[in-house]
Amino acid sequence: MRLPLLFAGLVLNVLLSGVHGVRADITSPPCDVSDHLHECLCSYPEYHVRRMRRSLWVSTTVWDLSPSSGRARALKKLQRYLHGHNNQGVTIPREWPLTTQTYVPTGLLREVTVALPLPREEWISPPVPEDPTVVLDVVPETVLYVKSFRRRGDLGFSAQREAQKLLHLLIANKEPIVRRDDYYYILQHGGDGSTLRERYEVAIFATNAVLDEFYRGTDGPGERLLRLPRCLRGNDSLWSSGGASVHADLVRRYCGTTFCYGPDCPTYTIQSKDGRGVERRSYRTVGPFMRTDPLTCQFDRARQQGQKIMFQKLKEVGLASPGRNFSRFSPVVTEVVQVGSRGGSCSRTYASYMPVPRDVLTRVSQEKTESFVSTCQDLSGYVLCFGGHGGTETAFEAGRRLSTALADRGASFSDDAMAVVEYNVQSRVFDRHNEVFMETRDSENGCLHTDSSGTQGQNSLDFTLTKDWFEGADITSPDLQHPCTKAPCPHNKITRTFDHFKEHRYMKTRWVCTKERSCEAVSGRDKAMAGLLFYINGRNDDRATIEMMQPVLTIHNVTEVSSPACDKIFTVCLYLPTGYHDNPPRPVDTQVYISEPVEELELFSLHFNNARVGGLSRDLYVSELAHNVTAEMSSMPDRFDVRCEKEMIAELLFMATEDEEWHELAFFRKVPTQLLPQTDSQADDVHVQYDACQNDACFLHEKVRDWDGFTEFRFDIGKWVCMKTAGCETGNPRDVFLALTSYFGGKNVAGRVLGNMMAPVVMQYKNISKDEDPFPGSCHEELEACAPLPRYYQRKNAPAPTEEGLMLRQVVTPSMYIIALKGHITSAQLSLELETLKHKLEETGLQFDKSGNLFYTYDEPFTEVDRRVTYTGFWKLQTVG
Ligand SMILES: *[C@@H]1O[C@H](CO)[C@@H](O)[C@H](O)[C@H]1NC(C)=O
Ligand SMILES: *[C@@H]1O[C@H](CO)[C@@H](O)[C@H](O)[C@H]1NC(C)=O
Ligand SMILES: *[C@@H]1O[C@H](CO)[C@@H](O)[C@H](O)[C@H]1NC(C)=O
Ligand SMILES: *[C@@H]1O[C@H](CO)[C@@H](O)[C@H](O)[C@H]1NC(C)=O
Ligand SMILES: *[C@@H]1O[C@H](CO)[C@@H](O)[C@H](O)[C@H]1NC(C)=O
Repeated sequence: MRLPLLFAGLVLNVLLSGVHGVRADITSPPCDVSDHLHECLCSYPEYHVRRMRRSLWVSTTVWDLSPSSGRARALKKLQRYLHGHNNQGVTIPREWPLTTQTYVPTGLLREVTVALPLPREEWISPPVPEDPTVVLDVVPETVLYVKSFRRRGDLGFSAQREAQKLLHLLIANKEPIVRRDDYYYILQHGGDGSTLRERYEVAIFATNAVLDEFYRGTDGPGERLLRLPRCLRGNDSLWSSGGASVHADLVRRYCGTTFCYGPDCPTYTIQSKDGRGVERRSYRTVGPFMRTDPLTCQFDRARQQGQKIMFQKLKEVGLASPGRNFSRFSPVVTEVVQVGSRGGSCSRTYASYMPVPRDVLTRVSQEKTESFVSTCQDLSGYVLCFGGHGGTETAFEAGRRLSTALADRGASFSDDAMAVVEYNVQSRVFDRHNEVFMETRDSENGCLHTDSSGTQGQNSLDFTLTKDWFEGADITSPDLQHPCTKAPCPHNKITRTFDHFKEHRYMKTRWVCTKERSCEAVSGRDKAMAGLLFYINGRNDDRATIEMMQPVLTIHNVTEVSSPACDKIFTVCLYLPTGYHDNPPRPVDTQVYISEPVEELELFSLHFNNARVGGLSRDLYVSELAHNVTAEMSSMPDRFDVRCEKEMIAELLFMATEDEEWHELAFFRKVPTQLLPQTDSQADDVHVQYDACQNDACFLHEKVRDWDGFTEFRFDIGKWVCMKTAGCETGNPRDVFLALTSYFGGKNVAGRVLGNMMAPVVMQYKNISKDEDPFPGSCHEELEACAPLPRYYQRKNAPAPTEEGLMLRQVVTPSMYIIALKGHITSAQLSLELETLKHKLEETGLQFDKSGNLFYTYDEPFTEVDRRVTYTGFWKLQTVG
């Protein structure tokens, strides 16, 4: 291993310089890709960017004064392996490129690793080298910066000069690199002695699939792009999914002794070694190191989160210079502890440790360091070394092997925990060194696994890896920005981030709410929204128009969701802007109410993809998701502190722009009872079920009051599409219907089918003054027909109609005085009934709009005549003040 320059690992990965960049040029010579392993991604005149496929390599490392003689010695060992010095005694054909991995040494000796790709036929069960210093590596997909060169004199030194040149080019071209003093690679294609056919390249590591995934987790999907070579930032699918299948045993039979040297490497003595590669070691001191306990149930996330948290901590105490960005560091230790019974999704917890160089510590005051740094004395345990780039499977396989080996020999060890130590940066491609460590029982001195739960040692470590139930792609939408970045939301803070959800805290909120009975959440919410929109659009005692804030909060009992009943209660709330908290306008509708102030609202929430419903109904999908999340919460250790209410849950709907909905599922730490309707409310009575409108395909008028012989109703519909035409014999209601229907069928600027036209279509006849004469002939009557927009568009902008005469309307309609007429009605009868109603209204002293009348029906077109119901009457006049 390199000098464990921990802080070199923290060094910015984007090295900037003032020199002008080189442009990518498609006319430049194409990349020379001469084998099935490499693929050119883009090229510049001076270098190109190349991807190496996932593949199996054999390599060995030697230390030597000269790179060339080191290379020759190492190659000899590899040749012995290829010529039969392996457990199958077989000869393996040699492939290219012969690759040398080295770096410019700071001391006399230089580390030289030589690697050869193995033929594809050997990828599944490769012959195991007899020489324990010759090792196999599964190399993940790797992107390299490559430059060809002509060999002049000693290969080692001319390659080093070329590598320096390439490094400077990359810096000038603002390409991200891991660090300046990193490994470089010499690729030799063909040759075997005949210098004529030899071709050489130098390469510098850009990234690999493991590192890219790591940064996706720490930086986010967008920011991670900055860590890629510039020409690859436009393409999200850089890695082939899965890749070739390669199976090789990466557990080493020999740990070696040179994987770490320098003042900060922990020193140890080896007490015993066995043929399987298990070493018993004892360390006098380990550390100083810092530790963090990330809130995760997954090994990979523990490494991502742990490193990020430790970096923040270093920044806080001034150990990382300001402006410096996080980058993955090495070495790093991840401890795995079995806290719960085996098999539960969160039965293992993780801690991350990172050694802190002593010289860095001397720059910081004693008290400061004591707060986050500790050391460990007299640690002893068993170690198994393994290769690989830090895959979870590899680490757990090594752990399982160590645990089995120790159990077989009856060793006394703590079988409930292991530490996985990663020594190398990802840019070391070959002969990588990782370890699993399990403490001896007698070494238990509170060094490792100091989980405060006190349950340690009860369960042996479970090495099985279960697939995460969380279908990432469905639930996380990496490309969407959170709508609160674009639309006004109540002030809130993300207080903690877990694997699948975040903890949010909303301070000092107040809400306007209503409750609605419905079969399912979406229609319940949409019906309720109409009332809330009326409120914020002025139906309140101040006639105030209030800005609509995100999100729409729908609270319901998730355990009821699977029942087919249509009387499930949904409480729907809109956040009130701060200015209205002290003295909110009172709602006019009896069903709408203002919550008491909620001082602190804490919830755990996760985004989900509403469009993805698959075989399940939407509500069942949501309840399954809720079940999965709460099951996971229950299995989390106490210190995660995720207690919350599991029955009354909330759905949060954000609508930042017209076509973008963002859905979150949320669990309250404590249900805000202020938001729920008071049980003695009479609001429930308003919802009488009418024969006319039982399902969600129509907007039911609501009874406001029964009068003697007529009824006062109102509509909770804000948006309509309307058409005006002449109302006398010249105007034909049928044409009006057809025009409206065509709007829903796609005659709109978006050309979008909006679904079926919903009942009721309200027809209004109105007398107009004789002076204006809009219609031909002597007709002074106007017919206006309005159809409610579908629920979806009650909350959104609907596309404008293209048919002449049609227009969109957004109105708060007054209530109306209505009589219901059954069966077939003639127009003479209708006039008579209206006359009678008019007299009644006048007698009662009610104010109404005498200039016109209206009628509507909920009947389906083919309803039998004697079962028809027509509602007719007059608009109530809005009283002023
Ligand atoms: C993105 O990369 C993939 C895999 O390398 C390639 O197949 C695809 O064509 C690239 N797409 C673009 C737009 O460059
Ligand atoms: C750190 O990251 C930010 C954006 O993520 C970038 O603008 C800045 O240049 C980076 N700084 C360094 C030193 O790499
Ligand atoms: C939710 O519904 C279930 C089943 O109907 C009921 O037992 C439970 O009491 C309800 N929970 C709450 C908090 O209302
Ligand atoms: C819930 O978890 C199960 C596995 O336990 C999984 O099959 C299912 O897809 C998950 N459902 C959701 C909605 O996440
Ligand atoms: C319009 O006025 C005429 C006569 O002035 C009357 O007969 C008719 O009923 C009125 N129509 C409406 C809709 O009020």
